Amino acid sequence: MKITIVGAGYVGLVSSACFAELGNHVVCVERDGARVAQLHEGIVPIHEPGLPELIARNLAAGRLAFTTDLAQGVRHAQLLFIAVGTPMAQDGSADLSQVLEVARAVGRHLSRFLVVANKSTVPVGTAQQVHSAIAHELAARRLARVPAFAVASNPEFLKEGAAVEDFMRPDRVVIGVPPGSAGTRAESLLRRAYAPFNRNHERMVVMDVKSAELTKYAANTLLATKISFMNDMAALADALGADIEQVRRGIGSDRRIGYDFIYAGLGYGGSCFPKDVAAICHTARAAGERLRVVEAVQAVNAGQPARFAERVLRHFGGSLEGRTIALWGLTFKPGTDDVREAPSRAIVRALVAAGAQVQAHDPLVHSLDQLMPDEPAAQRVRLEPHVRFCADPLAAARGADALVIATEWKIYRSPDLPALRRALRAPVVFDGRNLFDPQDMARAGFIYQGVGRGQER
Ligand SMILES: NC(=O)c1ccc[n+]([C@@H]2O[C@H](COP(=O)([O-])OP(=O)(O)OC[C@H]3O[C@@H](n4cnc5c(N)ncnc54)[C@H](O)[C@@H]3O)[C@@H](O)[C@H]2O)c1
Repeated sequence: MKITIVGAGYVGLVSSACFAELGNHVVCVERDGARVAQLHEGIVPIHEPGLPELIARNLAAGRLAFTTDLAQGVRHAQLLFIAVGTPMAQDGSADLSQVLEVARAVGRHLSRFLVVANKSTVPVGTAQQVHSAIAHELAARRLARVPAFAVASNPEFLKEGAAVEDFMRPDRVVIGVPPGSAGTRAESLLRRAYAPFNRNHERMVVMDVKSAELTKYAANTLLATKISFMNDMAALADALGADIEQVRRGIGSDRRIGYDFIYAGLGYGGSCFPKDVAAICHTARAAGERLRVVEAVQAVNAGQPARFAERVLRHFGGSLEGRTIALWGLTFKPGTDDVREAPSRAIVRALVAAGAQVQAHDPLVHSLDQLMPDEPAAQRVRLEPHVRFCADPLAAARGADALVIATEWKIYRSPDLPALRRALRAPVVFDGRNLFDPQDMARAGFIYQGVGRGQER
């Protein structure tokens, strides 16, 4: 099948490589020329296990091509996926400008039947807007024969850090198709594209377009809710002297609840949950509804990093002047190089604002430019003298008055505790991801605080 994917980010690159691996001919269109040049040289601009090998293999086999030319992409495809960004706008809504720009360009170049499927996470009604934008451009061309097209919804559920695996073995493939004959053609084409993923069992969940668009937000919001719920419970556990980790095991064993996404910690971050939770709240308000549970989820999450930084400050009597704090983990979760909305950023800012020097380590983030690429240069310049990046975790701990753990990378899970104790100036660990058992840490001679381990008072 001839497939075009617009956007070479986490979703677009992974989808392109995986569809090509299955034997399709894929053109991936990316507006950033430097990124396309890199990809042609075999440099993969994001960290995703297994992705470089897939891209190299399919480029060599001639099944995958990268271009900045959307017209070429439109000419090539029977099926075109939109996988561009939908960042948060000022008012919390999803900014659809990238999606609609692609739609208009498709309308300018369309010459035969095409199925356009939205993989970007977009609010209910976006497929309709994409349809109108394409139709508007087609009308402006005053063609003798206007080509037909259909706009479907195909939300993506892959997780960064396991994106290739998730794409190749999805729990489900949700597609939303419009009514009518164009919609029927869209469904059959999408079913064909995803047929290889259904060999073991049927994974397609076919529905109307609006429901598919809402499904993606409902999924992310429910996962975010589990996290904020546990952080709320963790605050109570701290106040009551209970241990949220024991509670987690106690409730996770209930199959109706499950063990996933019920870790207390610094809260969710990344490029999806924060903006998607904000967007669904915005959508609800625009529709005259309020999502009171989800608004609370947002509020709990927004307070987590500050609450944790506050705990560090309290330990040092309210000021970190003259103190050095080691910080392990900067990405928003392990296994990815993504730092968008990472809680570590708020922690770094809070520690420096309180007077600390920060010695940071992360397996993939090695500079402030990498950690805060989207923040004003002035902010980075302000932080620069106070943040030092270290080559390994023990180097970051050396001479520090305390260690803060912000991301649960595997390399932090079994530290050489005696060596860590020797490296730190004082054996104090603030664990924002609850990696260790408080009693074990106490036995090893550490003053140890986690999240919800019954230690707030
Ligand atoms: N990252 C994830 O884990 C994930 C998972 C599921 C869904 N999503 C959703 O998928 C969408 C994409 O996310 P992402 O993380 O891949 O974004 P990203 O920012 O990593 O990549 C988007 C890419 O699209 C390119 N682009 C923008 N406008 C373009 C245009 N007109 N023509 C060609 N290229 C263009 C950008 O230059 C960028 O490289 C978002 O809506 C996101 O919410 C993301």
